[in-house]
Amino acid sequence: MSKAKAKSMPDLVDALRKKRADIQQGGGPERLAKQHEQGKLSARERLAAVTDPHSLEEFGLFAQHRQTQFGMANKVCPADGVVTAAATIEGRLVHLASQDFTVLGGSAGEVHSLKVADAMARALKTGSPFIFINDSGGARVQEGIDSLSGYGQVFFHNVLLSGVVPQISLICGPCAGGAAYSPALTDFVIQTRQAQMFITGPQVIQQVTGEQISAEALGGADAHMAHSGVIHLIAENDLHAAELCRRLLSFLPANNLEEPPRLPSDGNVDPNPALNDVVPLDPKKGYDIRDVIQLTVDNGDFLEIQAGYARNMVVGFARIIGRSVGVIANQPSYLSGAIDIDASIKASRFIRFCNAFNIPLVTFVDVPGFLPGVQQEHGGIIRNGAKLLFAYSAATVPKIQVILRKSYGGAHVAMCSRDLGADCCLAWPTAEVAVMGAEGAVEIVFRKEMQEAENKAARRSELIEDYRSTFSNPFVAAGRRLVDDVIEPADTRRHLARALEYLHRKRDTRPPKKHGLIPM
Ligand code: HXC
Repeated sequence: MSKAKAKSMPDLVDALRKKRADIQQGGGPERLAKQHEQGKLSARERLAAVTDPHSLEEFGLFAQHRQTQFGMANKVCPADGVVTAAATIEGRLVHLASQDFTVLGGSAGEVHSLKVADAMARALKTGSPFIFINDSGGARVQEGIDSLSGYGQVFFHNVLLSGVVPQISLICGPCAGGAAYSPALTDFVIQTRQAQMFITGPQVIQQVTGEQISAEALGGADAHMAHSGVIHLIAENDLHAAELCRRLLSFLPANNLEEPPRLPSDGNVDPNPALNDVVPLDPKKGYDIRDVIQLTVDNGDFLEIQAGYARNMVVGFARIIGRSVGVIANQPSYLSGAIDIDASIKASRFIRFCNAFNIPLVTFVDVPGFLPGVQQEHGGIIRNGAKLLFAYSAATVPKIQVILRKSYGGAHVAMCSRDLGADCCLAWPTAEVAVMGAEGAVEIVFRKEMQEAENKAARRSELIEDYRSTFSNPFVAAGRRLVDDVIEPADTRRHLARALEYLHRKRDTRPPKKHGLIPM
């Protein structure tokens, strides 16, 4: 019997290096070239783009499926089609998973998904954000229910992490079937223009319903931004998605027990006279609320979230003297800024994210009311509008309200009013805090008087003017301490900076309970 030659350490190291390099090739050069042809990066290139140089520590490189049926017995799936790792972003720890489409279409088998769940568990234990880069044909069909079970583990961990560490999904390729539910369970979804996301694809839809639609029109980035509200940011390509992810994280704490990072600031809060001229005095005229936001925050730097969804409500992150804030604002240039179902859902979700992660809320108000209409009523504006009341009332972070112009009726209450727990309520001299607009109020209260008047039009104008001068201003509300101060618009930044300073140590404890019941 011949004796096997004893291996030396250099042999073992060489073999290890070769094995590692082979696995890191993923599905091989041909598939990688196809990936690049489609304008997509590889799983590892994406990780490199998101994280700090040389910070990546991969784990699970040698993980492998254990399926023996459907031709899988001898099928090697490098890293089982997903790269999982710890790394840093701007020096802060994160955990990541990145699906490798070159390996069986990035399909998620049992081990693949358990690797992702492992990365999530590490994120949870270490209080670090979790980033999941999706590029996958969904559950690995050959693995049957084992792959479904794997997905179940991912979903379960998404929920465990929710509200403890920020979770960000990047959709960089197909994200089909139940796979789309993991992103939906995360806090922010960034989709590239090369990616499509859907539960059932165009072919299935055509078979079942007869409807014909392209994959792009069904689940492309524009469709999800404008219609479904599933995604939060659109990226032109993978590199842009990585950049957006890093920028987004810069506003966020690593976990719910930490404060958001405070950036160095020169502390400049000098008056900005441009703010005195942004809002038209004519209440019927629109303007872009983003001008007010940009003129108020540090360096005009505003990361708008869900910019193309419910455009009547603007939300996003900014900083004031280096402190992260979540901004919520009515947008008078779209639907006059009226709150509809989608606007309420969009704002409520954003408010709850900020509250979970200790980010103060700054709310700019210019709202004529909730949007009237049968579609809104039957669509559930009562249930969905109530989400906004719930989200603001339940939020315990510092809450600052700035009323710019209209603040009418239920929408006044809903937009972070004093009665929903606002800590600081400021109003511009143009503010009209009232139960409704003067025109509407006069129609209700003085209809008879106007009908009986000799000159109906003149009497109507007179009554409107009378109502406006009595009620449509900030001073009635200030008199009832529903507004703390009426300020010059140019000084808004200084007032906000001070409010954030004195509210920094805010503590607001609520009765213990399992959880509240936001109207779903
Ligand atoms: C196994 C898969 C796969 C999958 C793709 N592949 N999806 N293998 N399971 N789910 C394999 C393909 O067989 C192919 O292998 C390789 O990945 C590349 O796929 P292509 O089809 O050549 O690529 P492309 O033309 O770019 O099309 C990509 C695609 C398409 C649109 C994603 O592959 C597709 O429609 N896949 C199925 C999508 C789907 O129905 N998923 C739902 C699964 S059920 P070879 O070796 O030929 O190159 C599900 C339920 C989960 O997800 C529920 C959780 C609760």
